Amino acid sequence: MAGNWKMYKTVKESVDFVKQLDEKFKGIQDREIVVCPVSLSIPGVVDALRFSNIQVGSQDAHWENEGAYTGNVSPSMFKDIGIKYVILGHSEKRQYDAETDQRINRKLKNVLKNGLRAIVCVGETLAEREGGRTEKVIETQLTGCFEGIGLGDLTEIVIAYEPVWAIGTGKNATPEQANEVHVFIRKWIEAKYNQEAAGAIRIQYGGSVKPENVKQLMGQPDIDGALVGGAALKVDSFSAIVQF
Ligand code: 13P
Repeated sequence: MAGNWKMYKTVKESVDFVKQLDEKFKGIQDREIVVCPVSLSIPGVVDALRFSNIQVGSQDAHWENEGAYTGNVSPSMFKDIGIKYVILGHSEKRQYDAETDQRINRKLKNVLKNGLRAIVCVGETLAEREGGRTEKVIETQLTGCFEGIGLGDLTEIVIAYEPVWAIGTGKNATPEQANEVHVFIRKWIEAKYNQEAAGAIRIQYGGSVKPENVKQLMGQPDIDGALVGGAALKVDSFSAIVQF
């Protein structure tokens, strides 16, 4: 159960917030909990969660470990500070920062090389869904993002299915709609790798996950977790989601 905070919360707000979450989540062992603050807050958050069962992730990481890349942070730098996860290919990066499957693939390789885990996001727009192109779009994204990724790497990768039309709109995919795409993703993994890997890989759903719909979504056989935006910014809603 992961929270993607996007560009919300100052450093102080982030640190105060995770201290409250830590109190709420003490003793939870049967599910993995991840928060992904803005890069600037990560050192403070990691420090506040030193003895916690809450993991920390970043919202992106570069394909190189260092270099002349203004405005970027590398996976080796994140690794050094103590994070575990990196979100890659979020639709907002694709939409506003010209992120491509090819770049996501390069970033994914570097994240894995640094011993971090990746949450790779895929998802169709409303026009693509209405045009009947959902599966084609997901297939293209997966093919590009997973180019050259070996079977042994899959244990370090989580896939997040986030239909763009459901993000921040309050309009979630129905549990059945989401599950259908999760099944498609699993079949794609089975075809490229094998059945065991397809069964084992974690696939999260993201897009207007709330306390009110999390139970139905998580009740679907192929939904293994949630990547939460807006509802991850408040203690009450995020803790209700994590402990659905
Ligand atoms: P919302 O939960 O705000 O719809 O955002 C989902 C998301 O983009 C998580 O990465």
